[in-house]
Order: sequence, then structure tokens, then C-alpha cells
Amino acid sequence: MGKLVSRTAVVTGGSKGIGRGIALALAAEGASVAIAYSRDDQAAKDAVAEIEGRGGRALAVRADVSRADQVGDLFARTAQEFGPVHILVNNAAVFSFQQLTEITQEEFHRQYGTNVLGPVLTMQAFAEQAPAEKATIINVTTSGIAHNNPGAALYTSTKSALTTMTRIAAKELAGRGIRVNALAPGATDTEGARSLGVIGSDMANELIASTPLGRLGRPEDIGPVAAFLASDDAAWITGEVIHADGGGH
Ligand SMILES: NC(=O)c1ccc[n+]([C@@H]2O[C@H](COP(=O)([O-])OP(=O)(O)OC[C@H]3O[C@@H](n4cnc5c(N)ncnc54)[C@H](OP(=O)(O)O)[C@@H]3O)[C@@H](O)[C@H]2O)c1
Repeated sequence: MGKLVSRTAVVTGGSKGIGRGIALALAAEGASVAIAYSRDDQAAKDAVAEIEGRGGRALAVRADVSRADQVGDLFARTAQEFGPVHILVNNAAVFSFQQLTEITQEEFHRQYGTNVLGPVLTMQAFAEQAPAEKATIINVTTSGIAHNNPGAALYTSTKSALTTMTRIAAKELAGRGIRVNALAPGATDTEGARSLGVIGSDMANELIASTPLGRLGRPEDIGPVAAFLASDDAAWITGEVIHADGGGH
């Protein structure tokens, strides 16, 4: 028997990269998984097909996490299909790197809209309907917070904000039995990292050199950690940040 049988999960950004790895791992433990994505219908369809091909249950919902109406639809459609949501994984994010002096207002709002406002809206919608037992939130941040790397001020600060919200939400929601934790990956080979040109670059080589386990992460390194945090094995863990980064922080 899987550890998440009879539970429903929403994984934002579950169609690609780390989110897809998490969706697959939750489904492998028996959870029914709704995958939220913003643009790429085919990738979402493929992720659902992959889960169903392994005997799991999944649903793709196009929902921009920075839009309250679309977040409302996401939870309504998921509940209609699978019942109330026990597990929320806030994984969807957008990122780019630039010097502080080069940050435009447009890019600021794009990243803070998806990476910070998005989790606020999803956590609100989740809390409104959370079952009395086994409800949990996992916020995907980054182990890069520890490094203060030049060029990463905008993106990393969105994840610092999410880390702080995780710790405070853990206290605010504890009385309702909702656990809230952060999962901080290190540099991971994903569609997003590839489209930014990170994979194979000097930056990637430097990241590998500073990672004790000596390689980039893979989505399948991260998924099982999320499954653990979502499960009863982590019932006594809340307000925590778990790094899954090969020792890189
Ligand atoms: N990759 C890394 O090295 C790394 C390291 C540390 C932390 N992280 C964190 O891990 C998470 C996943 O990163 P990744 O590299 O796997 O990303 P990715 O490959 O770029 O995938 C991003 C996913 O998020 C979805 N998405 C983007 N904007 C959205 C929005 N507004 N609403 C709903 N869904 C949206 C995308 O769907 P569409 O394609 O349909 O838009 C896609 O499914 C992020 O939180 C990231 O900050 C990544």
C-alpha cells in the first residue's frame, strides 16, 4: 500500500521538471494528483498520461497561480474530480537572472506574481477547503538562498519570501492540523534550467564543483522527498526547510 492512498494532491507546475518529478512520486504513493500549469497543454497532457500509464490517477488543469479566479477554478475542478485536497505543492515558479541594476518593474512583477502571490492565493484556497486530517503544504524554494549569488537577487528574494511565509503559515495553520514545510532543491536539470541556458554552461560546472555529491539534481531526486514530507512519516515536521541539493548549501 502506498503512503498517500485516498489523498488528493495539487501540484502547481506539475507538468515539467521538478514539479513533474513530484507529481509522479506522489501518484506512485497512491495520491490522486491535479497538475496545474499555465501555458503548455501538451506537456500537461504528457504528464497525466505518464502517471496514468503507471496505474495512477491524474488530472491537468490550466490555471495561472497568480490569478485568484483561476486558482479558485483549480481547487473546484480538483474537488469535483478527486474530492477535497489534502496536499498542496507550490512548485510553479518563473526565474531569470540579472544584476540588481538591470531588474525591470515588469520582470519584478512577473516573478513576484507567480512565485510569491501565487503561493499566497493557493494557500488561501487550500486552507478554505482543507480536510480536518492529513492536510499539508509543501513550498518549493531553492537552496540558492544560502549563496547570495550575484545576479540572483530578484529570483532568490522571491524564494526567501516564500520561506518566511512557510514558517509563519506553519504556526498560523497548526491549530487546524495543517503542516507547512519548504523543500529547497539545488541546481536541477529541468526544462526551465535548460531554456535559460544553465545546463552545460560555466555556471552549471561551478555549481557541480560546489556540490559535494558532484552532479546536478534530477527531478527524480526531489519527488520522493516531497512524498515523504506529504506522508504520515513526516507527521511531526512542520515549519521546516528540507534541502535536497547533494549537500550544496
Ligand atoms: N531547476 C532548478 O535548478 C531549480 C533549483 C532550485 C529550485 N527550483 C524551483 O523548483 C521549481 C520548479 O522549477 P523547474 O526548473 O522544474 O521549472 P520549469 O522546468 O520551468 O517548469 C515550470 C513549471 O511551472 C509552470 N508554471 C510556470 N508559471 C506558472 C503559473 N503562473 N501558473 C501555473 N503554472 C506555472 C510551468 O507550466 P507551463 O510550461 O505550462 O507554463 C511548468 O509546469 C520552481 O519553484 C523553482 O524555483 C528549481
